[in-house]
Amino acid sequence: MDIIEKNKLLMNELAAGSPQLAEQVNALDWNELQAALDECIFKKDQFGLPEEYGPASYFPLIPENPEQEKLYGQAFVHGEKLIRAGKTAAFTVAGGQGTRLGYDGPKGTLAVSPIKGKPLFQLFAEQILGISEKYEVAIPWYVMCSPLNLEATVSHFEENAYYGLSRENIKFFAQGVMPATDFKGNLLLASQDSLALSPNGHGGSLKALIDSGSIADMASRGIEHLSYFQVDNPLVSVINPLFIGLHDLQKSDMSSRSLTKTGPFEKLGNFVSIGDRVTIIEYSDLPEEKALEKEGDGRIRYRAGSPAIHVLRRDFIEQFASGEIKLPYHRAEKKVDHLDEAGERTTPEEPNAVKFETFVFDALPLAKNPLILEADRLEEFSPVKNKRGIDSLESSQADQVKRAKRWLTNAGHAIKETSIVEINPRAFPSERDILGAEFKDYDFESDLIYLD
Ligand code: UTP
Repeated sequence: MDIIEKNKLLMNELAAGSPQLAEQVNALDWNELQAALDECIFKKDQFGLPEEYGPASYFPLIPENPEQEKLYGQAFVHGEKLIRAGKTAAFTVAGGQGTRLGYDGPKGTLAVSPIKGKPLFQLFAEQILGISEKYEVAIPWYVMCSPLNLEATVSHFEENAYYGLSRENIKFFAQGVMPATDFKGNLLLASQDSLALSPNGHGGSLKALIDSGSIADMASRGIEHLSYFQVDNPLVSVINPLFIGLHDLQKSDMSSRSLTKTGPFEKLGNFVSIGDRVTIIEYSDLPEEKALEKEGDGRIRYRAGSPAIHVLRRDFIEQFASGEIKLPYHRAEKKVDHLDEAGERTTPEEPNAVKFETFVFDALPLAKNPLILEADRLEEFSPVKNKRGIDSLESSQADQVKRAKRWLTNAGHAIKETSIVEINPRAFPSERDILGAEFKDYDFESDLIYLD
């Protein structure tokens, strides 16, 4: 008997005793599970590496010639025009489980700012408000959660009065889930009444945007571009005029920011080109000899890494509506609490299960005219992923303080090396907004400076 039939038989039997389980089993898309098993367990449809590829070219952070300088200037003005005309919206993917961080609650509710302890969601909300006020326009914010954290996320916003945003401009919705299986493809139960379900990866955002009515909502508001970012990066520029302007001027379907990798093996996805298309090869999949290749000037060739910041055209996302175009599943081996054969709930010490996830960057090869714009890591990227060390709360707070101090110093204020500085993103959504601002009532000699 094939594995799908076996799973069906067993689950229908168990579901007879539990209405909740029956509901989950009825809602299962068995064809989707079959596809995921084929791709990730039986490896029938190996996606593998493209046969021929090279490093993707990208627009450098600092323009390299007068032509580029002119283009960036035009792009910035164009981006501002699009924002002011209400053509742009913000989109946060916040459906992950944050297992590495081990924080109890939606990650966006984690207090991250160095002085005020503002949660990630608040920092994004304030930046959106600041930009809305600057350009005198409503900027809708779409927040994707998962069925596991939607309620807690919405309650958090309700309790905090949406951080000053108007309710009609925020839309929360849940992405899809996939059941986890053991390494042979047998479905796992989290309890007598539930399958072990987990969110289907950030790639699930494209379909979820459509199914939730968010794309239709965007269309009715005249939104053309969606600024995509992850919930864990407090430094992200939520709506960036240069990036959006360039993306639109170059008629790109999906654009990405890149970071210059700190070394050949940094754990960032690598942007590569296949003909006129772009794709990402995960750090674990880029062959060592490729990772080590160098240019004549000594820089590594595959140096453009992905911080998962994109802009997507609304009509590019619309093509995922029919379900005919699918993103491939990736296999994630995880520790999943489940009922063992004796029906006892067990917490494994080693990975025991496969979770099936799709990744949003797998949409890149489908995008026409994809463009990549380099970002300054110190300015725009410091995620909170881990409990300690690299990409932890501690490192991110240190980076937030460094950036705030840099902004003030660049604006001509002398700040003590030991001072802690935090900037309210509503008052100053970008560095440009600080330059030229007058600060009469601030004591820049102070140990704690909160710029509001
Ligand atoms: P990560 O890959 O860092 O996963 O997600 P995670 O679930 O947050 O954390 P770990 O790996 O369990 O420690 C990157 C971004 O994609 C979102 C996350 O919320 C985060 O913003 N994401 C991830 C989703 O929205 N849905 C998913 O199914 C997975």
